[in-house]
Amino acid sequence: MESMAMMAAPQPAVPAPGREIILGTRGLTKRYGRRLAVDQLGLEVFRGDVFGLLGPNGSGKTTTLRMLLGLVWPTAGTMSLFGRDMSAPLERRAALKRVGAIAEQPAFYPYLSGRENLLGVATFSGWPDTAATRARVDVVLEQVGLATRAKDAYKKYSLGMKQRLGIAAALLTNPELIILDEPTNGLDPAGMVEVRALIGQLARGGATVLLSSHLLHEVQQVCTRVAILKEGRLLAQGAVADLLSSSSGILLAFADPEQLPKAAGIVLEAAGSGTGWIRGAQYVLPEPGAWTPPGGWLLRVDAPPERAAEVNALLGGHGIYAAEVRRFEGNLEQYFLALTGQAGPPAAYGQQGQAPMAQGYGQPMMAPHAAQSAQAARPTTGGQQ
Ligand SMILES: Nc1ncnc2c1ncn2[C@@H]1O[C@H](COP(=O)(O)OP(=O)(O)OP(=O)(O)O)[C@@H](O)[C@H]1O
Ligand SMILES: [Mg+2]
Repeated sequence: MESMAMMAAPQPAVPAPGREIILGTRGLTKRYGRRLAVDQLGLEVFRGDVFGLLGPNGSGKTTTLRMLLGLVWPTAGTMSLFGRDMSAPLERRAALKRVGAIAEQPAFYPYLSGRENLLGVATFSGWPDTAATRARVDVVLEQVGLATRAKDAYKKYSLGMKQRLGIAAALLTNPELIILDEPTNGLDPAGMVEVRALIGQLARGGATVLLSSHLLHEVQQVCTRVAILKEGRLLAQGAVADLLSSSSGILLAFADPEQLPKAAGIVLEAAGSGTGWIRGAQYVLPEPGAWTPPGGWLLRVDAPPERAAEVNALLGGHGIYAAEVRRFEGNLEQYFLALTGQAGPPAAYGQQGQAPMAQGYGQPMMAPHAAQSAQAARPTTGGQQ
């Protein structure tokens, strides 16, 4: 877990040149009585991110978003939004004007149409009932794909449409940052696809989106960066692509079981001698339904999947030829389970072990020269699709 701990360190990230941090928190903490809902959270949301606050029920997602929106007062810590200090009331008010949010189930009137409801939201927020306001309402209805159903009563909308109307309300002010708490909660798969597509579209249109979700799969599909929370604490934060690549790799199977430990030795030696891109290797069991080589074990190489041919060539250089070479891509679910220590058999590819010595497979996995790189290997849970 060492490498995970490195990733999880809640250090402020160094933004890539030109990437503006539009939302940042430090030591953000919320205590309800004796319950620590959010614990020393350090978040960084860059302009253009679709940022996912990810965590199981009760991990502090809603509390965090509500603190950012000024609806809940933090116990400790600082927040900045668009470079403004959120603890100063005037600064906070100015910053929040640039934010659109659904923090609660929006209360729409069932017998009014989508358009009338949005007009209601606008006028309730103090906008005059003018042609300009009506035009803005039509723009956001178009944006969320409800223009053709704008005249239908809200109660006739599907759940997905209701959710999109909520997002439309959040978009009325043309915000730079859109905060959505569990935007796909309660939606069926089709509704989720609709809302995800809308979020992608908003991001492409230049908005920054901060959303919360407990659905890893969903976050993987829609977010560019994530923060993973558990019991109020930040476990990891980073680009989804980086988190995923850390749980991707290459699987090798050998027709001759004698070749397995030899291949492992070569790969680990390459890792130990500093190739840079081979991080380690483990023996793993094939996932159900996959081909089981004689001896039963595969070699899992922790390296970028696109370098499979190079791993193959490395072994070929030593006269070892794999009977099967397979790439596997990590997923956030596996990453999350590894991070939260919930991973366990029978995770495909993840069931790590030493090839049974009793059956004569030669050297144990950790050859002395390779022990360091093997220790540095990621938890072996990645790969299951
Ligand atoms: N107003 C409150 N008073 C007391 N405790 C609260 C309050 N709001 C939240 N909590 C507690 O704070 C913790 C975090 O809750 P929060 O709603 O932020 O989690 P969440 O990640 O949004 O969960 P979910 O996925 O269920 O929405 C929970 O233990 C919750 O019971
Ligand atoms: Mg919540």
